Amino acid sequence: MARASDASKQLAKVRNEGKRIVVVTHIDADGLSSGSVAFHALARSGAISSVRAIPDLDHRALESLKADRFDFYLFTDLGSGMIPELEKAFGENFLIVDHHQLPPEQASSPNVLNAWGFGYDGGTEASSSTMAYMLALALDDKNRDLSPLAVIGALGDRQDGGEGRSLTGLNRKALDDAVSIGAVDVTKDFLFHGRETRPVHEAIALTYAPFIQGLSGARDSTLAALSGAGLPLKERGRWRSLSELSTEEKQKLLEVLTVYMGSAAGADAAISSLIGEVYSLRFEDSLTPLRDAREFATLLNACGRMDATDVGVAICLGDRGAALTDAMRLVSEYRTKLNKAIQTLQSGEKMMAHGNVMVVIGDDFIEERMTGSISSLLASSDRYRDKMVLVRARSGETEIKFSSRLGDAFAKEVNLGLILKEAAEKVGGVGGGHSMAAGAKVPAARKDEFTAVVVGKISG
Ligand code: C5P
Repeated sequence: MARASDASKQLAKVRNEGKRIVVVTHIDADGLSSGSVAFHALARSGAISSVRAIPDLDHRALESLKADRFDFYLFTDLGSGMIPELEKAFGENFLIVDHHQLPPEQASSPNVLNAWGFGYDGGTEASSSTMAYMLALALDDKNRDLSPLAVIGALGDRQDGGEGRSLTGLNRKALDDAVSIGAVDVTKDFLFHGRETRPVHEAIALTYAPFIQGLSGARDSTLAALSGAGLPLKERGRWRSLSELSTEEKQKLLEVLTVYMGSAAGADAAISSLIGEVYSLRFEDSLTPLRDAREFATLLNACGRMDATDVGVAICLGDRGAALTDAMRLVSEYRTKLNKAIQTLQSGEKMMAHGNVMVVIGDDFIEERMTGSISSLLASSDRYRDKMVLVRARSGETEIKFSSRLGDAFAKEVNLGLILKEAAEKVGGVGGGHSMAAGAKVPAARKDEFTAVVVGKISG
């Protein structure tokens, strides 16, 4: 908080001088949440500010930002891999609020507020939204009302790895604040989206994390499976929701789901991935997907992946009218896209196993913005949870985007962020991320070389 307070004073000075601040953030749920927290806190303090979301902070993006000549650049959820370049481009006039791993000597730089610099594991204990929330709190205590966005961002980055799928570390502090102002309720239940609002089979089919082969994305098959098991899904002609099932019915449902999750998962693993802490946003309408913090994060992610970051930011800033209608349409389009890609992958032609690395060749059917989602989805499925998944797609004419994720049953200790950073730099690209999730962009002509280096590092 002392460092956040120093950073807030720096921002207050820039504001008082009437200078223009731009918040530059990443397009995923944690990016949109953290950028919105920072922007909201600045705007309500009277700063002249704007917010912009980008898929990657690469050299091209940096040049474009520089050309716009803002007075001050506040980077959220990105920038930690580019500190020397940012210093060169902006001198003292930038601040990074982030949770991606960085060289320890850079963590204490005055321009960096990074979770790793304060003893937190940025991959599991502190999202960028939580870091941005700490900065917002240092700016003004009234920003405590932004704490739910910290929770949403952390869930978007799958930082609910504590016991019973709970948030831990610094994220927990943000959660405690959200609970203390009455904005969030914590209960224990199934983690499927639409727990209170959708028919049971729909809630299961619409949830992609974890990905249950045969059920996720397949509403009719899910309905058939549950009806076949004798679960009473309707009451007086009306579909029942998960929250209406009795304890015995939930137990029975779990048994059905465990069968689908395959032998590798086992009952205990299935239970621990399907049931856990549920975070309900009490100020949101209970009939919307914003009521459940995980579903809120999925909605933001869809906005980012569908190239509608403005819609995501508008929702974070409180728009519950047109933006929400747009976002709900985007979520459904996003699911359709994911389903299509998964169906193409079912044939197996586009997937190549290199030892325990599963490479997905998405050049002609996966969009650049979707690689992260597809990679996450595959790594959370029972079939690949002991693998490292590496998805690739075209990025413009000359580059290839890679997204990698580790399944949670991957047997070896590896740090994907470091591996992708080193491999990308070796072939003239840029890469980085967390130990379990990382990305890279490399020249198209050197994609195979890049893959070989990554496979070598993972298997070696
Ligand atoms: O792009 P993708 O979703 O696969 O990225 C996974 C994680 O790695 C994200 O948290 C992203 O911000 C991070 N990343 C990074 N540096 C890159 C590319 C991705 O830190 N060059």
